[in-house]
Amino acid sequence: MPYFYIITIYMPLEKELLKWYSFNKRDLPWRKDNDPYKVWVSEIILQQTRITQGKKYFNDFIDKFPTIYDLANSDEDSVLKSWQGLGYYNRAINLYKTAKFIVNDLGGTFPTTYDQLIKLKGIGDYTASAISSICFDRYHPVVDGNVLRFISRIYGNKIPVDSTQGKKKVKEFANKLIHKTETPGDFNQALMEYGALLCTPFPDCQLCIFNSKCVAFKNNRVDLIPIKTQKKKIRNRYFNYLVFKDNDGKTFINQRTEKDIWYKLYQFPLIEQDALVDDITSSSDFSEYLVNNKLKITNSKHKIIRYKHILSHQNLFIAFYLINLNTVINDGHDISNLNDFTFPVPISNFINKYLI
Ligand code: ADE
Repeated sequence: MPYFYIITIYMPLEKELLKWYSFNKRDLPWRKDNDPYKVWVSEIILQQTRITQGKKYFNDFIDKFPTIYDLANSDEDSVLKSWQGLGYYNRAINLYKTAKFIVNDLGGTFPTTYDQLIKLKGIGDYTASAISSICFDRYHPVVDGNVLRFISRIYGNKIPVDSTQGKKKVKEFANKLIHKTETPGDFNQALMEYGALLCTPFPDCQLCIFNSKCVAFKNNRVDLIPIKTQKKKIRNRYFNYLVFKDNDGKTFINQRTEKDIWYKLYQFPLIEQDALVDDITSSSDFSEYLVNNKLKITNSKHKIIRYKHILSHQNLFIAFYLINLNTVINDGHDISNLNDFTFPVPISNFINKYLI
């Protein structure tokens, strides 16, 4: 993408950034009218994915729920379905709960201030700052990963940005700048945009209009900033899914109810283990499951399909066991209708590749 810019002698950073933004901002669907409902939806989606994929989810979501009333009058399953594949499903549930609250308890009027917004379920500092500044011209700096990187490089931040103090310092810096502008919403979006498009993790600093102001660039420390200390802790989990099939083409599914990944999404009966197992059907957990559910297996032959699925803090080793049953499943679901339910991505992929 070409970046347009008119050379000027000297301009303070915030003014130069706003000018750059006016020439280079992306044409994004939620930027058309600054409708708080749309900006809210977009900001929640963009906390989970990049702009290209986010735009698709956003457009589909708004087609399905064009206004906050449509969202509030919908149902949880239908909201979850439109979120399938995005992850962090409790964010979709909170979006739905808060839409209901705004419609039913606030008469449909969207709160306009940071203090009102932050009280709402699922709206934290980032989202309250984004909505209040972009839609209602309030002076609250938005600090996402792109902003942390850009500002940290500009002033040569030596404090790790994954510490409370590090984030606070960046926020103070952004807060000073935003107050020098007349358009806090544009300023926030310009900061995020610049970090996303130019001040990237591996930037080309020759293209950057701020390189003469950038402490990291001048000190040859661009690769080292922002500093991060905490290493992500990754947990390995071993999921064994029992995919039963009776003679009528029915199977068992259930909804996840624990406050864990994939909350409220559907799955097959699950036996989770602490380590990888060759074959779960040889385990006592499996025999116990059959007895508890009064099930009989047709023959001992079954297929095992394995997937590895990586989440931000967990590696999932998933095995699907395709098992034929002699018993008729009374409270089961037709395999051909499984796509009516919201499943996590690896389960949905498995269903569409091996079952339907
Ligand atoms: N990333 C998340 N929200 C954004 C916005 N409003 N503008 C630019 N980048 C963003």
